[in-house]
Amino acid sequence: MSNKVADKIITIERHILNEQSEFPDATGTLSGLLHNIGLAGKLIASRTIRGGLSDILGATGETNVQGEQVQKLDAYAHQVIVQLNNHTGRLAAMGSEEAEELISIPDQYPVGKYSLLFDPLDGSSNINFNVSVGTIFGIYRRITPLGRPGTLEDLLQKGKNLVAAGYIVYGSSTMLVYSTGNGVNGFTLDPSIGEFLLTHPKIRLPEKPQYFSANQGYQNRWTEGIQRFTRWLRGGEGATQSLSLRYNGSMIADIHRVLLGGGVFYYPADPKVPNGKLRLLYETAPISFVIEQAGGYASTGREPILDIQPTELHQRTPLFIGNRELVEKAEEFIATYDGPVE
Ligand code: AHG
Ligand code: MN
Ligand code: MN
Repeated sequence: MSNKVADKIITIERHILNEQSEFPDATGTLSGLLHNIGLAGKLIASRTIRGGLSDILGATGETNVQGEQVQKLDAYAHQVIVQLNNHTGRLAAMGSEEAEELISIPDQYPVGKYSLLFDPLDGSSNINFNVSVGTIFGIYRRITPLGRPGTLEDLLQKGKNLVAAGYIVYGSSTMLVYSTGNGVNGFTLDPSIGEFLLTHPKIRLPEKPQYFSANQGYQNRWTEGIQRFTRWLRGGEGATQSLSLRYNGSMIADIHRVLLGGGVFYYPADPKVPNGKLRLLYETAPISFVIEQAGGYASTGREPILDIQPTELHQRTPLFIGNRELVEKAEEFIATYDGPVE
């Protein structure tokens, strides 16, 4: 490889270190943590791409704390992330969709200054259909004093306190997209060399949105405001344009499309899911941080996601996310037709 080519290649490690160099007091702890998440992504990707070739495909038969069936890959992805991160001295505690309680750092290892929240495998019910899945993560600085085990307080923080957040999407290629509050960058895994390389620098949502993404199978359960908003997206209710519909049923894949193509994704509350389906701490808050860093906006339909003070590890929230004007339009329909409070 000539020097010229090597100069053009920005590995994720180089990018993380570049970002770190802008903070003279940085110790490299966050950089190490982000690097480890990339490594977890590579391990998880190497399993997901084997698909039907291995007997790991399919459900374990157990149910998780949400009462949903756990796929074997969910358990694998959870274990990989915990085991890569629990001994490094970087973390005070972790929280995962696949663990009911806070995950402590084992006694024999040092505790650190960050907390990590993650959905090890998002959209896992899609695995059996060879549809994209993902991993979501959010990193906070601990609130409780250093040197002791982390507590729930270190995990239950507002999204706007996130120090870094991102996701890995296991699709036709594997991509890692993250932000440390200084814009959003995307990296594609080059499987031939096993490295994430910068392919999507400084991602911004396109100004002209193309897509809307929601499970319209639930339309009859939605409020009047949300039904009208949906008609507006389809060109009704006085709209001057209509958007194309895309829905994978895998949030990360759907939101990745919104990030790159522009549009809105929503998963509202309805009588069957009174607080929506998606979980605040390891699904909607980290993804909202990324989308807002790319110039978009995320709301429950009534308030910004990033302003919510969590009270429970697995709490759920409705979500409207994407181009700001579309999300604000949803808020407007909800405020007009659904009354001030539900
Ligand atoms: P998970 O696999 O982590 O439990 O998340 C699944 C979520 C999310 O990825 C997706 O947007 C949503 O479930 C789809 O739900 P519906 O099938 O109700 O549309
Ligand atoms: Mn999920
Ligand atoms: Mn999951």
